Amino acid sequence: MVQYSRHGNVFESLDYSEIDRRGEEVALKIQNKTGEGRDFLGWLDFASKMPDEEVERIIATAEHIRANYDALVVIGIGGSYLGARAVIEAINGFFPEDKFEVIYLGNTLSSTYTAQVLNHVKDKRIAINVISKSGTTTEPAVAFRLLKERLEEKYGKAYLSDAIYATTDKNKGALKTEAEREGYTSFVIPDDIGGRFSVITPVGLLPIACANINIREFIRGVRDGEKEYSSLDYRRNPAYFYGATRYLLYAQQKFASEMFVSYELQNKMIEEWLKQLFDESEGKEGKALLCSSGVFTTDLHSMGQFIQQGSRILFETIIKEKQPIADLVVPYDEENLDNLNYLAGKTVSHINDQAYHATLKAHTEGHSPANVLEIEKMDAYNLGNLFYFFFRATAFSAYLLGVNPFNQPGVEVYKKNMFKLLGKPGVK
Ligand code: PA5
Repeated sequence: MVQYSRHGNVFESLDYSEIDRRGEEVALKIQNKTGEGRDFLGWLDFASKMPDEEVERIIATAEHIRANYDALVVIGIGGSYLGARAVIEAINGFFPEDKFEVIYLGNTLSSTYTAQVLNHVKDKRIAINVISKSGTTTEPAVAFRLLKERLEEKYGKAYLSDAIYATTDKNKGALKTEAEREGYTSFVIPDDIGGRFSVITPVGLLPIACANINIREFIRGVRDGEKEYSSLDYRRNPAYFYGATRYLLYAQQKFASEMFVSYELQNKMIEEWLKQLFDESEGKEGKALLCSSGVFTTDLHSMGQFIQQGSRILFETIIKEKQPIADLVVPYDEENLDNLNYLAGKTVSHINDQAYHATLKAHTEGHSPANVLEIEKMDAYNLGNLFYFFFRATAFSAYLLGVNPFNQPGVEVYKKNMFKLLGKPGVK
């Protein structure tokens, strides 16, 4: 279970009476699926309803992919890749011992990145997991076409029918049509779960399992979260309490930004996933906090000055694990030329923890208050639980704000302009 605490004087003056009045009504909207976007609350109990056979099918597919290929290329953008990448990087790090690689493509229109990835995989036997709920998103579609063409040229068409795994809608979209026609193994994104809530479905589960991470444990963490974060009383529900607090920091204290912070570099993608979850869910009708991200202590050497003394616009939400995945001890050095013997015998994680306590004190005594979300460690169980915590917090906070958390009408504007410029048939 996520432990939530608040740090800084500002919390003493935060007035929760609005939440005391409206909190239960908002919680009931989520529980009874009566709020705006109600058709997209399938994530509430998806994990506990997911049949064991579906979990086993995903695991068996991942084992087949790992046994027969050198790497998996995950093609997807936004909610169709961020969650999986966040879990994989937080647990396996940037340089995993595992020989099997997971590579990301179709998350950008950068020709340079795309060309470099294609070059990187050219001599590898790769499988592809192409993920798109709509089945029509430009970035993954372009990358998929490019990669398929190269694979077909090198290995012949027969290779593709085993190497391609499609995760998409059960009925509609170009990817669905192609998967059916070409006989690709397919997984379904449920109708009632939007992209940014889909890491707990095959969207996240297949790539995570391919990275040799225990998805049964991940699902167990989500299932426990379903019970732990379901109370209608926000004061007994840490996800709702945090959701209410971030809303009040915006509404009463006029903070403009929530900065997600971790003290572990490999958690960076969790923050990217969070930015999407909150910004796409809440940034509507001229409202909402802008979510930003930082990894400390790294970013204390860049943004630290601003956070301490710049404009008072942000509060922090720190995700803190109690145990690191790996640790090191600083050695004693006879000559001590670097004057570091005062740290000899101490672990690097201990030094990092002192940096955390020191920074928390400095920033909260300055003008940046902080929410702290503590978990035991970054493992499959705790990440499943943490992600579900954030789902609940997002829904609660967005309904308090008065917006529909489950649509993203603003994203269509640039797409329409781009399609016009590119001459897409049917777009005027
Ligand atoms: O949360 C969302 O709905 C979006 O971020 C989508 O996940 C993203 O745009 C990709 O869409 P699709 O899965 O349809 O390709």
